[in-house]
Amino acid sequence: MIKVWTDAAEAGLLDRLGEHGSTFLYYPGAPPERAVSVSMPVRLPSWSLEYGLPPIFDMNLPEGVLRERLRLAFAKATGTFDDFDLLGIVGRSQVGRMRYTGQNDQLQEDVPFQSIDEILQKGRGGDLLSYLIDKFASSSGISGVQPKILVRDEAASVHLSEAKGRLSQGYRGATHIVKFSEENEYPQLAANEYFCLNVAEKCGLEVPTYRLAEDATALVIDRFDLRPNGTYRGFEDFCVLNGRRTAEKYRGSYESSIMKRFAEFANSTHIGEDLERLFALIAINCALSNGDAHLKNFGIVYDNVLGEARLAPVYDLVTTTVYLPKDSLALTINGTTRWPTAKELKRLGETRIGASPGHVREILERIRDAIAATSKEVQAYIKGHSQFEEIGKRMIKQWESGSSRSLSG
Ligand SMILES: Nc1ncnc2c1ncn2[C@@H]1O[C@H](COP(=O)(O)OP(=O)(O)O)[C@@H](O)[C@H]1O
Ligand SMILES: [Mg+2]
Repeated sequence: MIKVWTDAAEAGLLDRLGEHGSTFLYYPGAPPERAVSVSMPVRLPSWSLEYGLPPIFDMNLPEGVLRERLRLAFAKATGTFDDFDLLGIVGRSQVGRMRYTGQNDQLQEDVPFQSIDEILQKGRGGDLLSYLIDKFASSSGISGVQPKILVRDEAASVHLSEAKGRLSQGYRGATHIVKFSEENEYPQLAANEYFCLNVAEKCGLEVPTYRLAEDATALVIDRFDLRPNGTYRGFEDFCVLNGRRTAEKYRGSYESSIMKRFAEFANSTHIGEDLERLFALIAINCALSNGDAHLKNFGIVYDNVLGEARLAPVYDLVTTTVYLPKDSLALTINGTTRWPTAKELKRLGETRIGASPGHVREILERIRDAIAATSKEVQAYIKGHSQFEEIGKRMIKQWESGSSRSLSG
């Protein structure tokens, strides 16, 4: 059995059900603010599924390389290895406010220290990725297919403990996310993401601090769910808000599964402002030709599960068409995954955020200007980094055609 924690307090117990299912029960007397998700209020009856884990528990399970590493390391002991086993391993250190421990265990987050500067300057030579993944895999409760880890930076951690005296055991968690670029799979992925995030930032969207390693093999991102006092805010991605598991992340539309769903759960006086940011983010994804903007690449953040939820800062922007020229939208607009024309995007803005045609046009123009400005930075970066030349040039080309297709006219 797994004990489920929210905001460092005990919320309930999760157990296996039958061969493939699971069941979750809140502790008797759990107050409403212990709710594990905005979609799973505290109640007496259990939450049971015949297959898999409820989406909020499944949300941060590693996919791809990280999952495979953990399976190889831990499958021997248990014979098999499923989502429940994986949650038991990475549960103590997760993105957001949820934690998982053994039934009788206390919270012990304690992520190992790692200097971010060392990663950025690449002090350990070529085997850094392998070393870091081995060291941090079991404290990296974070989803996604690309190899990545959660780390606790010494400098940032000192800052946090100064702010709040010595941090209690429960709060020595990760401060940063490190995403690695694998040259033989998607060359220059970290630099690609770095410049795409730069476009979003120039559009005025909230982007957490992001840094590219000197040799461009890693992208380091500050956790946006970490509070200045070392505790964590609530985070839920749109798989959870749509009641879907990770495997269903490419199912849905930007109209309903993202924009309408956000309005349903925002519970906020800032909803107009956030819907506009959401529309801008969808438009940026189209203009940059990011075919991977699926349900897990949008999220909400909140301080109180019963209170206001805001759109999460921007993450995971990549021009995927430099690797997959035929790539298309991850979710549908107007019932199709074809890249939208400017006319179609404008209609999405006008109907879903209720803005005037002039205002929607301004949003698209701002994105076009940002792309043009970042393109210049890409060109300058290419000059000093010849290994980025091919991908960088392809990006600029994709952004030009994406801008004229989805932003102009
Ligand atoms: N800055 C951040 N702070 C907190 N959580 C984040 C941040 N960036 C991403 N995440 C979480 O980590 C997950 C994986 O990161 P992402 O950048 O999407 O990786 P991938 O490219 O493998 O999909 C996201 O779906 C989100 O849940
Ligand atoms: Mg992602």
